[in-house]
Amino acid sequence: MIPELRASASTACAVRNTIILGDALAVLPTAPRQSVHLTVFSPPYDGIRDYGKDWRLDYQSLGSELFELTVDGGVCAVVIGDGTKNFAKSMTTFRWAVDWVDRAGWRLFECCIYARHGNPGAWWAQRFRVDHEFILIFFKGDRPRQFDKSSLMVPSKHAGKVYSGTDRLTNGGFKKIEPKAVNDMKCRGTLWEYATSNTEGNRTKLEHPATYPDKLADDLIQCFSKPGDLVLDPMCGSGTTCVMAARSKRDYLGIEINESYYEIAQRRMKEEVENDVRLF
Ligand SMILES: C[S@@+](CC[C@H](N)C(=O)[O-])C[C@H]1O[C@@H](n2cnc3c(N)ncnc32)[C@H](O)[C@@H]1O
Repeated sequence: MIPELRASASTACAVRNTIILGDALAVLPTAPRQSVHLTVFSPPYDGIRDYGKDWRLDYQSLGSELFELTVDGGVCAVVIGDGTKNFAKSMTTFRWAVDWVDRAGWRLFECCIYARHGNPGAWWAQRFRVDHEFILIFFKGDRPRQFDKSSLMVPSKHAGKVYSGTDRLTNGGFKKIEPKAVNDMKCRGTLWEYATSNTEGNRTKLEHPATYPDKLADDLIQCFSKPGDLVLDPMCGSGTTCVMAARSKRDYLGIEINESYYEIAQRRMKEEVENDVRLF
């Protein structure tokens, strides 16, 4: 059952570094326009979990509202997937992406694959096991105001070798490349791989049924925000985004509609931020 909102229009406004119990679509309109630098969240999608019979997510209003709240150059990352019914995918991810770009004003920076290794999901006899979700990364304006890939580096396969050869041109011809040493490290590509969401062994976080890995939230925060920025999670569940933001000296704002999940998030803030316990 959806709990009574505690965040009224007058109390929910310009506060930072807090988690609010309420409906994101009621709380967000009370927040100051152009104040959010980065939003990282995962919405419930396609009825995969039961959030009550009256629950329904108006993703179009959410896209417009988040756009209004975001600063020029700000980024919004949505971790989302598609349910399957009668052998067909729901297309939810694609609907969100097209609507947010064509109507709400967002631009799509990238659609990364979040590979969830070890995911116990459906091993069906007649279809593939689904072991990925998407990370839709939207931005507002001309380009992201912050992009720091230093925490996303991985070892280069050909480190220590010298690269020489040719590049193929669009007209089919070849261009010779000057010999160049391959760097030891390179930025990861669009495949982002994580073990299942709670390899950190966090018992409090485990009380929520649908979390994403701490490291996934942290990777996005390190890349697309700076210390002092405001990081928002409008559906914060167990508080993963808020915990990671606070630990990296970002301001945070979390919103959660379900009272038990809200309490988990509050506990995590206490256990992991106030007491500075790091689980990865
Ligand atoms: C997939 S979970 C998010 C988990 C989170 N990323 C984590 O790692 O803990 C989605 C959350 O959205 C919350 N939710 C659903 N509708 C909401 C709404 N309208 N406003 C705020 N929260 C909502 C659900 O209660 C649920 O906890």
